[in-house]
Amino acid sequence: MKVLNIGSMNLDHVYNVDHIVQPGETEASEDMNVFLGGKGINQSMALAKAGVQVYHGGLIGEDGQPFLDACKEYGVNADHIKMIKGKTGHAIIQVDKNAQNCILLYGGANQKLTESYVDEVLSSFESGDILLLQNEVNQLPYIVDRAYAKGMQVALNPSPFNEKLKEVDLKKVSIFLLNEVEGGQITGMTDPDDVLEKMREMFPHAKIVLTLGKDGAKYAEGDVTYYQPVFKVQAVDTTAAGDTFTGYFLAGLIDGMDIPDILKMSAKASSIAVTRNGAVQSIPLKEEVMEALKEL
Ligand code: RIB
Repeated sequence: MKVLNIGSMNLDHVYNVDHIVQPGETEASEDMNVFLGGKGINQSMALAKAGVQVYHGGLIGEDGQPFLDACKEYGVNADHIKMIKGKTGHAIIQVDKNAQNCILLYGGANQKLTESYVDEVLSSFESGDILLLQNEVNQLPYIVDRAYAKGMQVALNPSPFNEKLKEVDLKKVSIFLLNEVEGGQITGMTDPDDVLEKMREMFPHAKIVLTLGKDGAKYAEGDVTYYQPVFKVQAVDTTAAGDTFTGYFLAGLIDGMDIPDILKMSAKASSIAVTRNGAVQSIPLKEEVMEALKEL
């Protein structure tokens, strides 16, 4: 069984600020760095750092070489990443003194996927393989339809949620990894328990992982539900915490671990990621996560 992730790659321009700038306000930032990010590549890196052989697909522009270098460094297979004319996607991220962030995206190459590119990538995968997706690339409805038709298992992190997701046939998704806001947008519910219940009703055959920020995470499949609280830490940057959780969760499933253990490992990995700046670089290696779990 192979694991493919077709997803975004963003150059994250991260500005450290006192508070998230308000409409009409001008604020000087205290620091600025460019990090590798994008929900797609963050999740591939989390999978790779958790020990899974992952194939990443997606487009970068002429300034995207650092992503190929990072794939090499962390063992993500980059054979399907294609460099095209123009700019790699980027993000403008403000991180405030409480480690909260806000993110403005420029899609760039992430929004230039074509049906023929998707067909070419999927031709290397077969029934039973896993396909992970987020909502930062175009062609999502086509990718889901083609992958499902091939018998691949589709895992979706519907983030960021927007109107385009309504074109995706969500019944073809077998694993949802989402936060309470995205869950609310899909189900129309607000209370997390209602969101989970409604998701269960709408997608009775899917595995559902609902992350709740500081309130932890819940898992539902059929009649089974599990809850995992967060590990409390002093956060400096919460960017990619969800991506870390997603990658580690999927890695645990692939390894055949029990769900409660997977949830605990994923929560621990995220709690380490938020103590570091940046996205790709903040995601811990599995040895570090397992070591930290032993200390509990
Ligand atoms: O989930 C965090 C990511 O969201 C950042 O790395 C940024 O690029 C945006 O895609």
